[in-house]
Amino acid sequence: MKKVLVTGGLGYIGSHTVVALQEEGFEVAIIDDLSNAKIEVLENIRSITHKAPAYHQIDLKDKAAVQQFFATQAIDGVIHFAASKAVGESVQKPLAYYENNLGGLVNLLQEMDRHKTTHLIFSSSCTVYGQADALPITESAPIKPAESPYGNTKQVGEEIIKDQTAVADLKAISLRYFNPIGAHESAKIGELPIGVPQNLVPFITQTAAGIRKELSVFGSDYNTPDGTAIRDYIHVIDLARAHIVALKRLFNKDQKAPYEVFNLGTGKGCSVLEVIQSFEKVSGKKLNYKMVARRAGDITAAYADTTTANKVLGWKAALSLETALLSAWKWQQTL
Ligand code: WQD
Repeated sequence: MKKVLVTGGLGYIGSHTVVALQEEGFEVAIIDDLSNAKIEVLENIRSITHKAPAYHQIDLKDKAAVQQFFATQAIDGVIHFAASKAVGESVQKPLAYYENNLGGLVNLLQEMDRHKTTHLIFSSSCTVYGQADALPITESAPIKPAESPYGNTKQVGEEIIKDQTAVADLKAISLRYFNPIGAHESAKIGELPIGVPQNLVPFITQTAAGIRKELSVFGSDYNTPDGTAIRDYIHVIDLARAHIVALKRLFNKDQKAPYEVFNLGTGKGCSVLEVIQSFEKVSGKKLNYKMVARRAGDITAAYADTTTANKVLGWKAALSLETALLSAWKWQQTL
């Protein structure tokens, strides 16, 4: 049974991927420093899969701890989620983001190399494209200057990994997520935003739950059919499945190059208003919202060209926006 290290495995996408890995028969070890996750998620994962993944509270910035981990484990592959991911916060604290996201990545890569762990899946983001010149967005779309230190850590992180695959025995895949939403059907794991949610769907569900008074729609004057911005919302379960497919591609040596990149989206763009209307339909709740000014740094539209993911990776998103929103609402009601 292959053993997979999931860094950030108690986080939102990480925890859903751990469940998928265990259900696929992999042995899982989680590293998480709990800076953006709760330890209760570990038990929630176990209650879904009836297998407790090994858990190590390690900060990847702590080089000695990372060395110690790899010296005592035989890891076949790594899925690397652990990173700070709040766009606005990264503008206020750039050095903390570069130290955590890039310093942690370098420590991880150095220990993987030292201990001959040669397979890596990197959690990247469509944010590397900025406002793409053409839609839908393909993997060959130009990488635009990052709009935030967070986005820059994803761009530079990909470059660091690519450079390492050129000189070391490392095979890597970067997965560029569009907008992950939703929760596991059991409603035992889901998105746990700390403080006021920055992202649209958790703010919607908290508004519907009465935790927030009303949703502010950031901008109604975009050059889109209904004036609100368009994104590609992908169910976190589809996203988790893509990580299994990508990891098997590495283990089965199906890769066409030492470093590959795949966009993970549905290929369908939805506006903020469409998401609101879809949520109202599936939840039966009337959402309280108002139109306000655009949010600084937001782009008009982004949705994925899924051709490469479908034809080369062999993965396609299967779950609908409605299914994702209903799962997010069911999860919110457990909190
Ligand atoms: C979606 C749309 C907002 C909140 C970010 C990161 C990206 C990735 C996903 C990590 C936009 C609008 C939002 C609200 C709103 N994160 N909105 N009112 O900005 O597309 O992507 O999260 O990898 O890197 O940039 O996602 O959910 O914040 O916003 O109107 O209260 O909803 O303007 O149009 P975004 P989001």
